[in-house]
Amino acid sequence: MRLTGLLGIEHPIIQGPFGGGLSSVALASAVSNAGGLGSFGAHVLHPTAITGLVRDLRAATTRPFAVNLWVPHAGEGDPIDPTPHIARLAPLYRRLGVEPPALPVAPDFTEQVDALLAAAPPVISFVMGVPPRWVLDSAHDKGITVIGTATTVDEAIALERAGVDAVVASGSDAGGHRGAFLRPVEQSLVGTFSLVPQVVDAVGSPVVAAGGIADRRGVRAALALGADGVQIGTGFLATRESNAGDVHKAMLHSDAAKVTVLTRLFSGRTARGIHNGLVRELAAHEDEVPPYPVQSGLMQPLRRAAAERGLADYVSLWAGQAAPLTASRSAKDYFKELVGT
Ligand SMILES: Cc1cc2nc3c(=O)[nH]c(=O)nc-3n(C[C@H](O)[C@H](O)[C@H](O)COP(=O)(O)O)c2cc1C
Repeated sequence: MRLTGLLGIEHPIIQGPFGGGLSSVALASAVSNAGGLGSFGAHVLHPTAITGLVRDLRAATTRPFAVNLWVPHAGEGDPIDPTPHIARLAPLYRRLGVEPPALPVAPDFTEQVDALLAAAPPVISFVMGVPPRWVLDSAHDKGITVIGTATTVDEAIALERAGVDAVVASGSDAGGHRGAFLRPVEQSLVGTFSLVPQVVDAVGSPVVAAGGIADRRGVRAALALGADGVQIGTGFLATRESNAGDVHKAMLHSDAAKVTVLTRLFSGRTARGIHNGLVRELAAHEDEVPPYPVQSGLMQPLRRAAAERGLADYVSLWAGQAAPLTASRSAKDYFKELVGT
C-alpha cells in the first residue's frame, strides 16, 4: 500500500528502466496502463530528446510513469586517449567491417536534469549514485516523486538520508549495469534474498525489490521478504514492446541464458549479460578497458553492426539470472500473469 499510494498506481510492480536505447514508450505506457509503473531509461538522451520523450509518454498514458537517469561517477567524462583501446579492438572492427568511431559526447547530467524537471514527469528514478540536493528539492517542489537505487544497505541508507521517496534494492542477480556507488562493484554484490530484508530493516521509506524476479512466485517472495513492491527488468525486456533487438530477445529464452556474467567489456562499467563470443575472446582484457562512457562509445559500431546482422556473439546481451524464466509475449499479458489475474 505504501508504494502504490506513493506512486498512485494499482499494483506494486515497476517495469525497470533500460538504458542504451532498449526502453520504449510502447512498453512503459503498456505497463502504466495495466496498473503498474512503466519506466524509460533516458541516460543516453540529450536534453531536447528528454523533453520530447516526456511529451510522448504523456500522450501514450494518462497514468503515472517514471523516467530514469544515471548519476555521474567522479571523473566520468574526463578525457582519455583512446588510441591503445582502439588498437585492442582493431581486429574486431576489421572482422565486422566497421570503422573505429569518433568518441561521442555524452549528454551533460545537469542539462538532462534541467530538461527533465522542466518536463515534470510524475516520477524520476536514479541509479549509480545519490542525486544532488538541489535535484531532490526541485523535484519535490514540483510534486515529482523520486526513487533512488541501492545495491547495498549502506547505499540505501545514504539515499534515504538524502531524501529520496523510495529505494530500489537491486540484488546482484539483476540484469544490466550494476549501480554500486559507495564501494567497488565487487564489494557490492549482494543477492536479492539477502539484500531486501536488510534494506527493509535499515530504512523507513518504501523498498522495491529488484533482481531475479520474473514471475508471480518471485513477486510473492519479494513481498514476503518485506518489500513494498518489485522492479522487474529482464522479464519486461523479453516482451514484444521492449526495444531490445530480435537477437537479444531470442537469446533471453535460449539455453545460453543459463550462463550470465558480470563484465566491463561492452561499456567500461560492470554489467550482467549472457556469456557470448566477445566476452570469451576479450576475457584477458577485462581490467584494461577504459571506463564508461569511453568503452561504450568504442564498442557502439560493433554492437550496432552485430545487431543488424543477427550476430549474437558481438551484441551486449544484457540479462539477469532469471532470464530463463522469461517468454515472448505482450507486456499486458505478462503483467496479468505477474498480478495473478
Ligand atoms: C538491458 C537493461 C538495461 C538497464 N538499464 C537500466 C538503467 O538505465 N537504469 C536503471 O536504473 N536500471 C537499469 N536496469 C535495471 C532494471 O531497471 C532492473 O532494476 C533490473 O533489470 C531488475 O533485475 P532483473 O533484470 O533480474 O529483473 C537495466 C536492466 C537491463 C536488463
